[in-house]
Amino acid sequence: MTSSLDAIANAQEAAKRNLWLHFTRMSSYAEGEVPVIVRGSGAYVYDQHGRRYLDGLSGLFVSQVGHGRAEIAEAAARQASELAYFPLWSYAHPKAIELAARLAELAPGDLNRVFFTTSGSEAVESAWKLAKQYFKLTGQPGKYKVISRDIAYHGTSMGALAITGLADIKHPFEPLVPGGVRVPNTNFYRAPDFLSGDEAEFGQWAADEIERAILREGPSSVAAVFLEPVQNSGGCFPPPPGYFQRVREICDTYDVLLVSDEVICAFGRLGYYFGAERYGYQPDIITFAKGVTSGYSPLGGMMVRDALMEPFSTGTATFLHGITFAGHPVSSAVALANLDIFEKEDLLGNVRANEGAFRATLERLYDLPIVGDIRGAGYFYGIEMVKDKVTRETFTDDESERLLRGFLSHALFDAGLVCRADDRGDPVIQLAPPLICGQEHFDEIERILREVLTEAWTRI
Ligand SMILES: Cc1ncc(COP(=O)(O)O)c(C=O)c1O
Repeated sequence: MTSSLDAIANAQEAAKRNLWLHFTRMSSYAEGEVPVIVRGSGAYVYDQHGRRYLDGLSGLFVSQVGHGRAEIAEAAARQASELAYFPLWSYAHPKAIELAARLAELAPGDLNRVFFTTSGSEAVESAWKLAKQYFKLTGQPGKYKVISRDIAYHGTSMGALAITGLADIKHPFEPLVPGGVRVPNTNFYRAPDFLSGDEAEFGQWAADEIERAILREGPSSVAAVFLEPVQNSGGCFPPPPGYFQRVREICDTYDVLLVSDEVICAFGRLGYYFGAERYGYQPDIITFAKGVTSGYSPLGGMMVRDALMEPFSTGTATFLHGITFAGHPVSSAVALANLDIFEKEDLLGNVRANEGAFRATLERLYDLPIVGDIRGAGYFYGIEMVKDKVTRETFTDDESERLLRGFLSHALFDAGLVCRADDRGDPVIQLAPPLICGQEHFDEIERILREVLTEAWTRI
């Protein structure tokens, strides 16, 4: 019989020999241990040694209802025994039907039609493909380009990667799908000097940049604009006041589809089922994934306006796209059980009631010299770290490498907090705790960040 210490050692060896971690520099585990998370309960997860961590990132912006929910696991088991799998190609199954109807009820305006996928990248990919085929069917075959924002992440499959605005993760895979066009994001902390005094004016400018891009590319070539309600990459950029209203106007003027990529922002992350609702705009398509199941099983999808479905609803036209596991019966059952918890426990109400306290607790950290900006909304925040608070000077690439990879990522985890230290834009720490969290969790996050960031400052 192997002892539990042997089992841990064997798992380490196998993890290093056989497993390939995503977006991970594998050499960084040549010496140290691969962290192995073995179970979760509520807002906490536990590693192979039994150490506890506050899950300040909901896994990867996923675990909205928290870990260890027996009722969701039971819903999955029931569905697997009744009908484990059947495709949505030419057939339907009851849980996909029920979930589509429920999502249509929750979605803003006339987004009535749900096309399921298994992931966020596939949702984004599907939205772009739909936009292309829709315009081909409706007499504007030249419309194929997509506009998105600098540093925005929209997924890793080849189409989604062409929409993603992160140069470093695109270069190794060039040539990419043609048609991706970039515009400025809404990072007000780093707004150009001539706009840094007025957030609404900055928002107007950033939205107008979309119009300029459409005109530059030629309106007859632009199919869609992909925007997150709050942009994740770069560290949680909320939209300035009036931004989305102006974007909506621009899209209407040039017959361009507005896609709200809500893979992170939907399902309570911002205190609403959909971020578009929070910011009062009507998208033509919403893409979603992650929180729809709280991660108990994979699922994604896009919701589209009836009008986008119209060319496909008569005659021989077919949306020529599909994914084997999309709208999987178990995932659909899980999503329904997840949404039941949202309702029963009023999780949206919890986020709305506590988001001010979350922000205020994080803002205590402004007394640290390294904390430059704290921004976000709902249960979704970024903390930008700077070398000089007054000038907003950021770190050099070397400093950032030493700070983030050399120290912060490990130190925060060792101190008991799962969060994300990221420098795909300027260096930030990102937080997105489960929606069940309250003041005690915010205090714990603040305490750990204070300890670790204080230490980080002494190492710069
Ligand atoms: C806004 C956005 N779109 C798309 C994706 C891709 O989702 P997935 O990793 O499920 O493919 C992500 C992932 O984080 C995302 O944040």
